[in-house]
Amino acid sequence: SPSSQLEVSGSTYATDGWTNVTPKILSYLGANKHLQTDHPLSIIRQRIVNYFYGAYRNQRGNPLFSVYDQMNPVVTVQQNFDNLLIPADHVSRQKSDCYYINQQHLLRAHTTAHQVELISGGLDNFLVVGEVYRREEIDSTHYPVFHQAAAVGVVTKDELLERNPGPEFFEEMWSGTLPDPKVILPSSKFMDQTKQPCHTLEAVKLMEHEMKHHVLVGLTKDLFGPRIKYRWVDTYFPFTQPSWELEIYFKDNWLEVLGCGIMRHEILQRSGVHQSIGYAFGVGLERLAMVLFDVPDIRLFWSNDSGFLSQFSEKDLHNLPKYKPISHYPQCTNDLSFWLPQDIEVDAGFSPNDFYDLVRSVAGDMVEQISLVDKFKHPKTGRSSVCFRIVYRHMERTLTQAEVNEIHKQIASASVDSFNVQIR
Ligand code: PHE
Repeated sequence: SPSSQLEVSGSTYATDGWTNVTPKILSYLGANKHLQTDHPLSIIRQRIVNYFYGAYRNQRGNPLFSVYDQMNPVVTVQQNFDNLLIPADHVSRQKSDCYYINQQHLLRAHTTAHQVELISGGLDNFLVVGEVYRREEIDSTHYPVFHQAAAVGVVTKDELLERNPGPEFFEEMWSGTLPDPKVILPSSKFMDQTKQPCHTLEAVKLMEHEMKHHVLVGLTKDLFGPRIKYRWVDTYFPFTQPSWELEIYFKDNWLEVLGCGIMRHEILQRSGVHQSIGYAFGVGLERLAMVLFDVPDIRLFWSNDSGFLSQFSEKDLHNLPKYKPISHYPQCTNDLSFWLPQDIEVDAGFSPNDFYDLVRSVAGDMVEQISLVDKFKHPKTGRSSVCFRIVYRHMERTLTQAEVNEIHKQIASASVDSFNVQIR
């Protein structure tokens, strides 16, 4: 009915003929996989953020980039499209491609949607990380919700001169023909794609070099290692000109990892920034995570299966494990608690790793995960007790409760024999 309303992240919206969000899609809001401890997408976010914090600092040693990772994914058509000079008839606006809440509001289709409000608020170097929503087929590499990190770096004429003293060609940089911010021409293929008319070639080349070779190649090498093969491919985005895609050579194919370019000057002008030039880029976190962790299917990032989630840890961000396929058969979880001998404690006479090896020897591939879930020291006797959680799951068949119980008993008695413990 025309008076229908929709409640989305705390606000109420009137629905209309544009509304096409589904309850299923709305259920992803607030899932925040990119902030979930030990989630592979959160690990990739931290790698990107740490790279920017570490590589770019001001004279006082503080990080140059600020990070926004909890912006509301509900944005206006103006934020997602108009502010970024995306033409009114551009295909990306179609109802068939986006999740609209109503004619004026949608779930952001890219994190670039926040760039104008942040620049207008006075920021010049920032990253926006969050989930984005696009209507797409579901296959092993597409999912209607995925995550992006988008960044902007804006530099003033004076800063650029300071960083690159000498050449007087910067004098010309802002003397080109400034665009009329009220008249937005599309950055079409018919215009000069080398540069915008307001920039000198030299200024563009300098910004391009800084963006490509310092920022983005630096990031790519930080993520994929110094030997990665990459190439730049010319492309088109309405909000940057010129624009490129960065591709890396991976498993015998060129794989697109990010889009970038020199910001359209109209966007800066309309955000109240003059005498500056900027770059912008956007990168998909799932794409990076699939390559870096060897995850074969994008749907796994939405899995709550502990067989998947337990494989990743943010304790060591620079040692990313390769994903090992999980079983499709059901899990069966059993706890085992025992008292350690007098005067023995965890890591003082008893090592959990010894127990893990014992479990592997007794149960072999029936065990998927083991973790130490509880440690306790009795206040009177002073004896230590530990509790291990064992998740049983076979790769090729469903385990019966009876055989799990039998193996669990064998683990208990082997522990008594090997470690002189007392089962509780
Ligand atoms: N927003 C673009 C996308 O989602 C990526 C991009 C960001 C490209 C910034 C250029 C500059 O594909």
